[in-house]
Amino acid sequence: MTTMPAPTERPAPSPIPGDPHPVAELRSVSKTYYKPDGSVMVKALCEVDLTIPAGQFVAIMGASGSGKSTLMNILGCLDRPTGGEYLLDGTPAQELSDEALSSFRGKKIGFVFQAFNLIPQLTVEENVAVPLFYQDVPKHERLARARAKLELVELSDRIGHRPSELSGGQQQRVAIARALATDPVVLMADEPTGNLDSKTGEAILKLFESLHREGMTMIMVTHDDSIAERCERIVRLKDGLVDTDEMLRLRRD
Ligand SMILES: Nc1ncnc2c1ncn2[C@@H]1O[C@H](COP(=O)(O)OP(=O)(O)OP(=O)(O)O)[C@@H](O)[C@H]1O
Ligand SMILES: [Mg+2]
Repeated sequence: MTTMPAPTERPAPSPIPGDPHPVAELRSVSKTYYKPDGSVMVKALCEVDLTIPAGQFVAIMGASGSGKSTLMNILGCLDRPTGGEYLLDGTPAQELSDEALSSFRGKKIGFVFQAFNLIPQLTVEENVAVPLFYQDVPKHERLARARAKLELVELSDRIGHRPSELSGGQQQRVAIARALATDPVVLMADEPTGNLDSKTGEAILKLFESLHREGMTMIMVTHDDSIAERCERIVRLKDGLVDTDEMLRLRRD
């Protein structure tokens, strides 16, 4: 196990051809919540520097209130920093309008939530196709692409079911297929196994590991050390700062 250099010591990105380019890059990112009178309420993130290269599998850890969700919301373009810069796949998020950012997010990022967040009235296949609707993909192609992702998560035999007819693990696999529907550059997951028993959670982690082996960049919030140790890198937050940043292993070994 090696400890990454502190942000101030980190070398400039390598110009070597073929080196993984950063998928996500936070440059001195801060997020301060203000009271209505303009005074500071909470500094949720304080000048965070974080670079996530393509293909990396990163765990975000830290105590409750340390800033994990705030960080994920910024990485996921659901929220904007109050200071610093965020580059997603090389594009500075701050230069995009809200509408452009939302469309960019839809193309670049797949989200997996603890509570699955499937639409109960839609079938499994329709749920997976939803993100493609927002990209104006024709219906026939949407459903074909949804079926291909459902095959990947081994749920081809459940395409016509409603979410309520599935187990928790199956629902999470549908949510993963949905997150992959747009072929995003990064998959972000906030406690993806938090609502699952350990055996079902294990199946989800195995799926994540196989996606990672295929080259997917993954960022996952977890409170569980044994889950974080399956990743390549663990970033621990404390009071809105990166407390430790450890590389556990090299890519996909
Ligand atoms: N909308 C908000 N307004 C004011 N303060 C906020 C807001 N959202 C978060 N905070 C504060 O920012 C800090 C970081 O919150 P955050 O939700 O990022 O923590 P977390 O690490 O995700 O915690 P948990 O493990 O409990 O989910 C906390 O002190 C929280 O109270
Ligand atoms: Mg949180």
